Amino acid sequence: MTQAGETVRRALACVDEPAYTGQPGGARIPQTSNPLIVARMLERLEVEPGHRVLEIGTGSGFSAAVLSRLVGPDGHVTSLDIDARLTGRAARLLAGDGCRNVRLMTGDGTRWVPDPVPSRVREGTGGRGHAGFDRLIAWVAPVRVPDVWMRQATPGAVIVTPVHLAPLAGTMGVVRLRRGAGPAQLTADLLMPGGFAEARPEPYDQWLVPSYGVDALTRDAAGRMWWVAAEWLRAHEPIVGMRLLERMITDGRGAAGPSAAGTVTGLLAPGERGGDLHAFLMAVRPDGLTTAALGEQGWGVGCSEPGGVTLVGPAGDVFHAGAPAATERLAGWIGAWRGRGRPGMAELVPQLRRHGTGWDVRAIVP
Ligand SMILES: C[S@@+](CC[C@H](N)C(=O)[O-])C[C@H]1O[C@@H](n2cnc3c(N)ncnc32)[C@H](O)[C@@H]1O
Repeated sequence: MTQAGETVRRALACVDEPAYTGQPGGARIPQTSNPLIVARMLERLEVEPGHRVLEIGTGSGFSAAVLSRLVGPDGHVTSLDIDARLTGRAARLLAGDGCRNVRLMTGDGTRWVPDPVPSRVREGTGGRGHAGFDRLIAWVAPVRVPDVWMRQATPGAVIVTPVHLAPLAGTMGVVRLRRGAGPAQLTADLLMPGGFAEARPEPYDQWLVPSYGVDALTRDAAGRMWWVAAEWLRAHEPIVGMRLLERMITDGRGAAGPSAAGTVTGLLAPGERGGDLHAFLMAVRPDGLTTAALGEQGWGVGCSEPGGVTLVGPAGDVFHAGAPAATERLAGWIGAWRGRGRPGMAELVPQLRRHGTGWDVRAIVP
């Protein structure tokens, strides 16, 4: 384990996770990140004692409690959530846990970032000096990395955040960014797998439907949610997406689904990982790239066109509906993936592209 990993592991061990994530009655609150993912992302954040850290997405308050330990008594954590119920709840828990170096605030962290509290270490008590956050971590995905984060970050600041790697729901990764001397100088040096909820402009209580990048959505007769996302659908009337979904619900054949007979098999060979193929497709973004949620059959990434759709799930299971052309095209993409050595997220390189008042993050196969 790396030194940073060991430091994070020790901080995690000091926090009573169920005290933050549990609710009366025993269930976990839904706005909680998996401790393994918290550990992996905090390790990449390179937090040091004395740092001022901005966290976007307080949720249960668990990650704020870990950050509080990582920055220590000379550091400070500002944690923002869109939902005042959560910042209020976390404030009580953190105070009870003795975390005096955490400030909770309510607001949309993709549009507004407060000033950090002055650092006692670098500026002397009450001094001003360079006001900025040394580290910024988000537990929700902004549509793009907003400029407001860079304006409130110190030169050399490290930012770890989930992002969409394609303009489609279900195409997230986690990126690490470093701010240069000026707020417009930004580099991206690391990509990791990771799926999060999207940042939203107001509090919300449903997570079934992504708030970004869905092109058609419906429920089946049993009330299960289906959605599909594909850039080509955006050039058509909404009815085209609805027809595709209806075809998926009525004709769909999935290895994991109720109508497994007649399933398309053999797209991935044993040992080939659906998650790696997903990452590759997010990077190359072939025409027809599609993501979809399949009722109770999970979700998949693959190819669609007006006549049909074929998708591969995270475990390599295949879902198909309609004409075979989508299967043939997807098989061609899988051949290209094999030809490049089956890269997964760890092999991809992040690339930044300026877009309006922020940065799109895209992945490329080196
Ligand atoms: C996955 S949870 C965070 C989990 C938290 N890190 C923990 O350890 O429990 C994501 C949180 O982001 C919040 N959120 C969503 N959109 C937001 C926005 N625009 N600004 C700030 N917070 C937001 C949600 O209310 C939710 O509490």
